[in-house]
This record gives sequence, structure tokens and C-alpha cells, in this order.
Amino acid sequence: MLRDRFERKVTYLRVSVTERCNFRCRYCMSEKPFSWVPKENLLSYEELFAFIKIGIDNGIEKIRLTGGEPTTRDNLDELIAMIHTYAPHVDIGLTTNGFLLPEQAKKLKRAGLRRVNISLDSLERETLHYITQKNVLDQVLAGIDAAVDAGLSIKLNSVILRDINDHEILPLFEYAKGIGAQIRYIEYMENIHATTTLQGLRSDEIIDVLGRKYSFIPIGKESAGPANLYEMVDGYRFGTIEPHRHDFCETCDRLRLSAEGDLIGCLYFEGAKSIKQAIRDGNIDQATKILEEVVFNKPEKNLWGIENVEVSSRAFYRTGG
Ligand code: GTP
Ligand code: 5AD
Ligand code: SF4
Repeated sequence: MLRDRFERKVTYLRVSVTERCNFRCRYCMSEKPFSWVPKENLLSYEELFAFIKIGIDNGIEKIRLTGGEPTTRDNLDELIAMIHTYAPHVDIGLTTNGFLLPEQAKKLKRAGLRRVNISLDSLERETLHYITQKNVLDQVLAGIDAAVDAGLSIKLNSVILRDINDHEILPLFEYAKGIGAQIRYIEYMENIHATTTLQGLRSDEIIDVLGRKYSFIPIGKESAGPANLYEMVDGYRFGTIEPHRHDFCETCDRLRLSAEGDLIGCLYFEGAKSIKQAIRDGNIDQATKILEEVVFNKPEKNLWGIENVEVSSRAFYRTGG
């Protein structure tokens, strides 16, 4: 079992399989990066799996594949199948923009994927085009339908931005509820890779808008997840993710692995240690040692929104949020 200095158990590994993306969301990758990490610097699926195996042997119970956009890396189902065959009890999830799900949802589910969290920031063609800088609405909605058809469990992630999609809090809610998917409104996290003028809504503003039309009660957090959940009388649940309050850090159970093999203790901090050489040398003891060290040194909490404290310059597309 992996435990950090603050007695938090680490059981959740987020694995970025690529930093590349087919969208250019203004809050994440507002422009094409100057250069991509060369392919040979990425861990192969066999190498990623070698490390994931070590994680599972040390108590990891939940794995989420992220990007960039994870479905843009060829044959993602092969990595899922490797993990699922090795440890069928491990909960495998995917965070995706949904664009390639029409062609991939069934294959990914067959390989062992259980859950998908799909980004959906607008239901208006032009607004989503503005945010993602690509005309994607129809295909993303088709991707959500394909995930439903494949029998995947679905959550929707929406980042609400002032004067851009803040008039869509209710339509997004109603759409999500209509397909039985939990929606989570994620507060925009300021970062140097985003369009500079963006301003995010805080969760209390969002809850206020929803509360004017619907009744619900706060029910706290679901295990160690970052979302604050709310429930309606009919049982429908939705959530907010509030990094600016950083209250979910107390129970944080996660680590992140970048596609290049950097193991990261906290999304907010630069600190990382590479497992690449140890994995390429087949040195399991060394990789395990690095894993234990990164867990041990996991920071107590993020510092988002605290004035005069500089935010990590690592892009979200390197860690998949
Ligand atoms: P499940 O609980 O398994 O459904 O997944 P999740 O909420 O961990 O995954 P998802 O990728 O959908 O996370 C939603 C978003 O919440 C991420 O994209 C991040 O923007 C944000 N988030 C998740 N974990 C953290 C965290 O540790 N710190 C901060 N600041 N934000 C986080
Ligand atoms: N602020 C908040 N959420 C972000 N994401 C990416 N960048 C940011 C940011 N700057 C989240 C999006 C997307 C997921 C992959 O990461 O919600 O759903
Ligand atoms: Fe791509 Fe996701 Fe970043 Fe949008 S948020 S640019 S879909 S990695």
C-alpha cells in the first residue's frame, strides 16, 4: 500500500498517453505548442504497462487514461486490454474530448474500459467552436451517444467561462440529466498556456444559477474524488470541482504519469521524477523506489488562487488535468 507523509493512501494513477490533441481548447492548449515531444521520448504501451503493473502490485486500484487527447494515440484499446487482463478488478477510466468516440467507444469498452469523462463546454455550435477552436459539436455529441450505446458509464466535464458559455449552465445541466450522466462544473484554473483574457466562474455562482430553477442538497464528496456533489429528489447527482478552495487535497489519492514517464505528485507543482530509465532498464526495484519516493513527497495541497504564488508552468495537456 502506498502512503504519503500525511497518511493519505494513494490508490489512483492518472496516465497521460500523449500530450497531443486534436482540439485547441482556449483554457488548455490555446495554440499549437512550439514543438511536440519526439515520439521516441514517449513510453511505449509496453513500457507504460510495465510501470502500471508496479503501481497495481503496490495498491493502485483505479487508473484513468488521459492526454492531451488519449484517443489520438493509435490502438489505445491495446493498453486498456493489457491492464484489464492483468488486473480485471482495476477500475479503468478515460478522460476525453469525445471526438473520436464514434469510431472507438465499442472497441475501448470491449478491451475493458468502464468509464468515460467527456468534456462538453457548450451545446451551441459556434460557442463550442470558439472554445475548442474547431467545429466539433456534432461529432462530440455523436461521441457521447456512442459511449451511451457501448454501455460505458459517463460523466461530463464543463468549464464555465464568463461571457463565453456562462449562459449555458442550465442547458448543459439539462442535457446531462437527460442522458443520465453526472455533470461536473470545473472551475477554470489559470495557466500560462491559456488565452490570457479568460475568466472562470466560481462554483458558488454556478450553484446559484442552478438553484434558481432546481432544488437539490449538497451531499459532500464521493470518496476521495475532487467533486463536491449535489443531489436532487429524483436521485440525480451533479458536482462542482473547486481547485480554488483546494479542500479536496486533504483526501487526495492520486498520482500522475506523463507520456514521457515523469511521475508527478500534484497537478499544481512542477516537482516530478522520471521512471523512464528504470523502466527501459527493466529495473523494477528502481522504478518501485521512485514510485515510493514520489508518493512520500506528495505535496500537502495545491495553491491555486492564492495571491502572489506562481502557478506551475506545466501545461494541463501534459497531465490531462
Ligand atoms: P472520476 O472521479 O474517476 O470520475 O475522475 P476524476 O474526476 O478524477 O477525473 P477527470 O479527469 O474527469 O477530472 C476532472 C477534472 O478535475 C480534471 O480534468 C482536472 O481539471 C480536475 N482535477 C482532477 N483532479 C484534480 C486535482 O488533483 N487537482 C486539481 N487542481 N484539479 C483536479
Ligand atoms: N481549467 C480547468 N479545467 C481544465 N481542464 C483542462 N484545462 C483546464 C483548466 N485550465 C480540464 C477540462 C477537460 C479536462 C481534460 O481537463 O475540464 O475536461
Ligand atoms: Fe485537448 Fe482536452 Fe486540452 Fe481541450 S482540454 S485542448 S480537448 S487536452
